[in-house]
Amino acid sequence: MKKHIVLLPGDGIGPEVTQAAKKMLEAVAERYQHTFTFESQEIGGSAIDSQGTPLPEDTIEACKKADAIFLGAVGGPKWDHLPGHMRPEKGLLGIRKQMELFANLRPVKAFQQLLHASPLKPEVVAGSDLLIVRELTGGLYFGEPSERKNNGTQVVDTLAYQKHEIERIVEKAFESARVRRKHLTSVDKANVLESSRMWREIVEEKKHDYPEVTVEHMLVDAAAMKLVTNPTAFDVIVTENMFGDILSDEASVLTGSLGMLPSASIRTDGVGLYEPVHGSAPDIAGQDKANPLAAILSVAMMLKHSFQMEEEAEQVEKAVADVLAERFHTSDLSISNGVKVSGSVLAKKVVEQLSTSDTTE
Ligand code: NAD
Ligand code: IPM
Ligand code: MN
Repeated sequence: MKKHIVLLPGDGIGPEVTQAAKKMLEAVAERYQHTFTFESQEIGGSAIDSQGTPLPEDTIEACKKADAIFLGAVGGPKWDHLPGHMRPEKGLLGIRKQMELFANLRPVKAFQQLLHASPLKPEVVAGSDLLIVRELTGGLYFGEPSERKNNGTQVVDTLAYQKHEIERIVEKAFESARVRRKHLTSVDKANVLESSRMWREIVEEKKHDYPEVTVEHMLVDAAAMKLVTNPTAFDVIVTENMFGDILSDEASVLTGSLGMLPSASIRTDGVGLYEPVHGSAPDIAGQDKANPLAAILSVAMMLKHSFQMEEEAEQVEKAVADVLAERFHTSDLSISNGVKVSGSVLAKKVVEQLSTSDTTE
């Protein structure tokens, strides 16, 4: 199969983990006789530095023509002083919005080999396997007005949703739950927010179309607590943009590190943008310390969701599990009697594992 992939390395550790993702895609192409072509484009702080904007037109055009997009990370202290509309993060928000990537899938699975890498008790973490379905193109991130008023003495951010925006993400979550363990937790703040009350009504309406899925509603503060006290109680979580952002970083603790969480930002057709959940990690950038596994697992999501390459995706995930079973890890993970290696060495081990493993096992 021929596929064209746009790479958006971005800032900080973004280019390091994008390199790992690209090597994995090349290894998959070689092993399964696919042809993947690559094109790199700028986004975020690096695009501000070279082109004066966080989201250049060329980047948008390239993304619109691509079969899939991989993004490393954007942002960093160098650009923190810039006004909101000029920040690196605007590049990421802009491409999500322009491509209408309204559904952000963030699977959180505790690898057996990493049960002790989490600061939580292993018996709490064991068996955790949940999917956060985060609304990605609405809510507080995009609501208007968002401004400073009255000579800078007042600020406004707006949490706005159109009914159809809630309906499509809720449908996506039900579809996901249907092919998993058939349990959906809708997370909101319906005791305070009008938007959450509409969200709840829509979930109640839609549940009749999915009778095999059990549904519960949970307030976001309680959900944050339950995620770390009883994570196995969750299967699919559906929630609005900002709640999903916060809960997914929290949920990464179950896996041992934020450097383990992949994500897919998709819409109803097959096009998608695949990105690790973590940011540009300025504290470790340029030191070859970044954990490449979130990026590599995002490649597995690309293979599955955009290219329907189920077998290839499974083999990428298996290669990650196999290398962890050999106790190789980066410094963000603590594994007793583990072998601490650099990010590039860990990526190389996983790529070699994919290239040499026997798929008939
Ligand atoms: P961050 O996710 O970059 O880092 C949080 C902590 O996790 C840091 O200690 C970092 O070293 C560690 N970490 C993150 N990824 C890691 C990896 N792969 N391996 C090892 N350790 C890892 O969050 P932050 O520090 O709050 O934000 C830094 C910048 O990144 C900000 O400018 C923020 O806006 C941006 N950001 C971008 C994205 C994105 O591009 N998708 C996501 C989150 C944050
Ligand atoms: C993420 C990030 C982004 C978000 C930022 C960088 C805009 O935190 O992808 O989780 O909040 O969506
Ligand atoms: Mn985030």
